[in-house]
Amino acid sequence: MASLFPKPRKKLVFLASGRGSNLEAVLQAVQKGRIRGIPELLITDNPEASAIGVGSKYGVPSKILNFSSYAQKEKYHSDLLEILEAQSPDLIVTCGYMRILKKDVIRSFPNRIINIHPSLLPAFPGLNAQKQAFEYGVKISGCTAHFIDEGVDSGPVILQGTVKIDPEMTERELTLAILKEEHKILPLAVKLFCENRLSIKNRKVSIL
Ligand code: GAR
Repeated sequence: MASLFPKPRKKLVFLASGRGSNLEAVLQAVQKGRIRGIPELLITDNPEASAIGVGSKYGVPSKILNFSSYAQKEKYHSDLLEILEAQSPDLIVTCGYMRILKKDVIRSFPNRIINIHPSLLPAFPGLNAQKQAFEYGVKISGCTAHFIDEGVDSGPVILQGTVKIDPEMTERELTLAILKEEHKILPLAVKLFCENRLSIKNRKVSIL
């Protein structure tokens, strides 16, 4: 018999490097009660990231690990892992986090890290995905919310949002149209995770 008590809310930690608009989309959804999560911490590799201000607007503390000030880059990654393990989140959300997570982080949080990527994966992984898609001349692009595995942008796909590329569209317009879709699918993916509604079998994600 299903429990009559409400399920506990999931502990969320965010990783972001820049503007933080996806972070804000998720935090807004939490604030409106759409996501059953507790945003506990934002970790950033960039002390200039606007995401820090976004976090504080919603009462989320930030931990700054200034990547460029680390003489030993391995130390950055071990500090990051230490903070994550101490925080022990149910879910890590990478929203505009521009570094590749080391395998030990991914192994410590298997299928518990969700990323938003601005293309229809597996097309155009890596950096500047919108530019790659625009220059390739595809007619449809979009974004992907996916679990992070040990490859680059190669983990199980949770949700995708599409954008039709009109002949007159500029790269900037495409980027903005994709971002609008990102702000829909990332909060939705986090919401589904927090409701235990994502199941993965043979790398395929089903929504329960
Ligand atoms: C977003 O478009 C996100 O998909 C992309 O960076 C932007 C961050 O914007 N992420 C990547 O390209 C990761 N490879 P935001 O800081 O406003 O959320």
